[in-house]
Parts: sequence; C-alpha cells; structure tokens
Amino acid sequence: MPRIIRTRVAIVGAGPAGLLLSHLLADAGIESIVLDRRSRTEIESTIRAGILEQETVRVLDESGASDRVLTVGNRHDGIELRFNGEGHRIDFPELVGRSVWLYPQHEVLKDLIAARLAAGQDVLFETEVTGVGDVETDRPWVTATTSDDEELRIEAEFVVGADGSRSVVRPAVTGSSAGGHFREYPFAWFGILCEAPPSSDELIYSNSPDGFALISQRSATIQRMYFQCDPDADPNALSEAEIWNALQARVPGTSLATGPIVQRDVLRFRSFVAHELRHGRAVLVGDAAHTVPPTGAKGMNLAVADVVLLDRALRALLLENDTRLIDAFAETALKRIWKAQHFSWWMTSMLHTASDATEFDRRRQVGELRSVVESEAGRTFLAEAYTGWPHEGGAS
Ligand code: DHB
Repeated sequence: MPRIIRTRVAIVGAGPAGLLLSHLLADAGIESIVLDRRSRTEIESTIRAGILEQETVRVLDESGASDRVLTVGNRHDGIELRFNGEGHRIDFPELVGRSVWLYPQHEVLKDLIAARLAAGQDVLFETEVTGVGDVETDRPWVTATTSDDEELRIEAEFVVGADGSRSVVRPAVTGSSAGGHFREYPFAWFGILCEAPPSSDELIYSNSPDGFALISQRSATIQRMYFQCDPDADPNALSEAEIWNALQARVPGTSLATGPIVQRDVLRFRSFVAHELRHGRAVLVGDAAHTVPPTGAKGMNLAVADVVLLDRALRALLLENDTRLIDAFAETALKRIWKAQHFSWWMTSMLHTASDATEFDRRRQVGELRSVVESEAGRTFLAEAYTGWPHEGGAS
C-alpha cells in the first residue's frame, strides 16, 4: 500500500517554476508538495542561462524568493549586436526605461531551495513520478517512488507539471507525451565556462560569416561563452585552443581574454508549445509547456511569468472557489508564450548562419540587422522584448 499524502497542490518539478509557485502559494496560506526526480545537488549545479528580465527580478525580490538577486546579480543596461565586425549598442533604459540582471539560474535555484526548506516546505528530491490521474475531478492524484523505494500517493486539489521539457505530467494534460507545436533548428551552441576576466562590460551577440557567438559572463573571474555549432557536435572533440580560435573568429574587433575552460557542453535548440496547457485540474508551466531556443534567454523568464499568472488563478480557485482566472489561464499565458517564441526564433534566425545560406541570404541578414540597429523603432522593439513585457495585470 502506498503512503498517502494529502496536500492542496501537487507540484511536479523543483526547477524555477515549481519552487517559485510553492513559494508564492505558501504566502497565500496554500499548502503544496514539490517532487523532483533529480537530487538537490544536481538541481543546484546544472548550468543554465543567466539573464533575468526586470519583472522576473521584481517577483524574486519582492516575494522574498531570492534575497541575493539584487546584491550578487549585476544590472545590465544594454547589449551589443555585432555584425560585419562593427558593434551596435542597444541601450535599454534609454529606449524602454528597463534593464536586465545577470544572475545565473542555478543561483536562483539555490536561493529558492534554501527559502522553501527554511519555511518548512516539503520538497521530495530523487522522487520519480509514476502516474497522474483523476485530473477531471476535484481530487487529482500523483503517484511516485522515493529514493528509498517508498511508494507515495499524493492526493491534491490541483496538479502542476513544472517538470521540464520531458514532462511526465504532460500526457495527463495533452493526451500524449508530445502533443504540441514543434520546430527544430539546424544548429546548436557550444557553451563553455572559463576562468578569465570579462572580455567586455556587456554581453555581445555577434553575427559573423563563420557563425554566431555570444560573449556572456558569470562573475569577475568566470565567463560564459557560446558559439554556433552542429547539433551533433561532440563537446569533447575540440582542444581548448580550437575552442578559443572558433570563438575569437566569430567576434572580430574584440580580443577575448582567455583562460582554462572548466566546463563545456552542447545545447540543442528547439521551439515547442504544448497543444493544451490545462486539462481539468492539471496544468503545465515552464519548459513542460514550452521550450524556446536560448538566444535572448527567455526560458526561465517565461516560466516565472507563467507562475505569476497561475499563482493568482490558484488563489482565486482554492481560496474563493472562483474559476474565472484558471479558466482564462491558458489563453492569457499563450499570448506571452507566443510573443517569446517569436522573439527567440527571430533573434536566432537573425544572428545565426545556416550552412546552406546563399549570398542573398547573408546580405539579407545584414540588411535585417541594419534595420534593427539603425532605427530607434527597431532598437526599441528588441529592447522591449529582451527586457521583458510587463506581466499581465501587473504594474508596467
Ligand atoms: C546567456 C544565455 C543566453 O541564451 C542569452 O541570450 C544570454 C546569456 C548566459 O548563459 O549567460
């Protein structure tokens, strides 16, 4: 017989979406349980993107979910777009009165996990979900197996799939594990973490005939950089010298500060939006609902926006029996999701070089980049999307 746990909201996935949701719900007195198949160490050490929109930072700071985002994180007031070897700055405060913060996702996760555990939240790490059911009733459940092989049955009033792109909750919502709109890309990013000082004050997004590169940062002594590669590239096939040559060739005009490469990975891209985000009393948020290519760093920001909406909808449903916000959840969330899908696709296609690109394609791409950087309307469009649209119903 499984051990029965009763709670109000069963949250599958201890990533940014699941943990933040449990944090916001607790503030309204709504009890939840969070499960994840990964260990706490794995969650806290997986390297992800580093750019937070202004609204994401506001939510993390004001809710008390992260007390380090403003002190350890660094505000960035612009980015550089580089093409034909020339840099063009996009000045965020001047164009849209907003900024972004560089604060890595795994640091957000460390803050969230510490805050949730300190508040007495039940977070079950290394616990694998084995089933989700009765989502069409008021008593949906989740079954799971813990790291010491204990069988659990979690009886809740709502189930949330915040369990990433290979979501096990998704079939209960969409009817199948795929169930969505897809797009694959013919390239990926070769990412490195290296011990070196920053090569530039701000991030550089560089288009070059050799392909795209992104010069990002982590701290005064650790840098994060990426260059476009084949999706099937083997991260261990290149020597450190070959990696530096590949990066340097893609950012003409900047002499990169180099140093030991302490981590390397290949990130494959895809765009995905689930056909359904909600079915009865189960809902999908974050990467379980959608994935974006990394250019523009929308992934975690979109997850936070989903959760802000869902938190309001669950408060109305579970505290006041008001179904209006949960009924509107998918439609409202999808408006932002598709804007972010478009932005991520646009940045990706404008900056990367396809292997079969013709001279026409290359010149057209430079024309597109020029129409962005040489026009205030173009720069403003990019700045609005990059710094993040205001949250629905929130202050702008
Ligand atoms: C980073 C990743 C991104 O995808 C991006 O657009 C900017 C920064 C990063 O990992 O630092």
